Amino acid sequence: MTRLAAKDLPAWKQLAQIAAKSTYPSVAELLPDERRHERLMLATSDVLFDFSKQRITEEVLDTLLQLAEQRNWRERIEELFNGELVNTTEGRAALHTALRAPPNEQPSNQEVHRELKRLSGLAERLTDASFRGYTGKAITDIVHIGIGGSQLGPELVVAALKPAHSPFRCHFVANVDGHAIDMTLCELNPETTLFVVVSKSFATLETVKNAQTARSWMLERTGASQAIALHFVAVTNNLASAIEFGIAPHNCFAIWQWVGGRFSLWSAVGLPIILCLGIDGFQDLLAGAHAMDNHFRTAPAEANAPLLAALIGIWNYNFLGVNNHAVLPYDERLKLLPNYLQQLETESNGKSVRHDGSDVGVHTMAVLWGGVGTTGQHAFHQLLHQGTRAFTADFILAARANHEHDDHHRWLTANCFSQSQAMAQGQHADDPHQSVAGNHATNTFVLDRLDGKTLGALLAFYEHKVFCQGLIWDINSFDQWGVELGKRLANVIYEQLGGRSAILQDTSTRALIQHVSTAEGTP
Ligand code: F6P
Repeated sequence: MTRLAAKDLPAWKQLAQIAAKSTYPSVAELLPDERRHERLMLATSDVLFDFSKQRITEEVLDTLLQLAEQRNWRERIEELFNGELVNTTEGRAALHTALRAPPNEQPSNQEVHRELKRLSGLAERLTDASFRGYTGKAITDIVHIGIGGSQLGPELVVAALKPAHSPFRCHFVANVDGHAIDMTLCELNPETTLFVVVSKSFATLETVKNAQTARSWMLERTGASQAIALHFVAVTNNLASAIEFGIAPHNCFAIWQWVGGRFSLWSAVGLPIILCLGIDGFQDLLAGAHAMDNHFRTAPAEANAPLLAALIGIWNYNFLGVNNHAVLPYDERLKLLPNYLQQLETESNGKSVRHDGSDVGVHTMAVLWGGVGTTGQHAFHQLLHQGTRAFTADFILAARANHEHDDHHRWLTANCFSQSQAMAQGQHADDPHQSVAGNHATNTFVLDRLDGKTLGALLAFYEHKVFCQGLIWDINSFDQWGVELGKRLANVIYEQLGGRSAILQDTSTRALIQHVSTAEGTP
């Protein structure tokens, strides 16, 4: 079906006209209107989504909603949930919502629940120590080996929700940098360590290399090849390669082609979550995400949190000239959220061509970065308050903490709200060094408290926001062809670094290769 380019949609043209008006109000000018809360604050799934500090008028909001209508957003959501091949360049569905739906509610759901049962069985056997290492000792340490979508989600959730007394210590190794695996292995005892190798393709360089190093470490220390089958499990779509590696078939868990890496924490990829939080904790996460799925699928446009967030983002990026977006969790437990969202949002929507291969013709996803508050206030917030760049930000906070230091939490909350207030209102001072421009639009998302349900809802909210922005821009949010070039070039340079092929590089890269080759072998 031929679709218009985003910039040719009638609502897009109207938005461009509104944005061009020199009289378009600032955030500070908009804030006094009491009625903003009615339209721009939504409470759902134990999360308050506050969009009221956006630089957005009623007219803009109405026109953005028309933009969504002109993209048939409702039908497109149904295509996603019904397993249509929304990943057009790879001919795949993107059925991550099926991973958290009750049995029989969505396509492919039965196999999901079968696999969940197997995972729960493994977790039970590890916890009650009926699954033991090769010398008969109980497993105490889990090393998750995976990268990108096969690592960021589980690591975030484990860091955010890990109970004080978790049955296992969880370690994550992603980088091919040998220091990463060394730093992890040096603390571990092979007799009590289980490696979870997570790779949809089982072909990702970093993961395969780290898994091979872990296998050698195990073999060197045990001298027993049968230890591999007892100390390695895999989560993959490539069963043959996992088995060839030495992993026992009954220790292999499925991730299906219709689950994109960055949408996969809800599948067996989340095994460390199950191990650290228990199956009930994982089920809470799934339930929270499912509640958000239902909200997304059924709420009207004007009360649909992911859709509104997406449209507001489009307004900022495409009409107000914003080119970077900061994720600012005011919660130490969510310090990995910026990394996770960086992959989710930028690997999904950092695209330049439409589904049909034509130029997208407008800006797509902004640079996404961030860091935890209040720490960031003593570092990069200076740039936010007085730098020259336009930005937007998401503040994320839990209304209630899970500790008893009430005064800490009050200070944390006060700082969070004061930052968004300062960014909106700024400050005029006679001394220009003291002036703060303000007029920066921000969102604030308040979880009732941080738990499985609210975190599940929050992450699913961001997934759906990504989907909605992709559908407005008419890009494929589910592929990532751009990362392939670097991988291909690395293979060539790897050979050249080993002196195994002639150097056919640009002069700059050639000089770098020569420089490190001279350094090789130097103590
Ligand atoms: O290189 C990018 C990427 O393909 C991501 O999209 C993915 O999450 C990651 O690599 C890991 O892939 P795999 O699970 O196949 O190892």
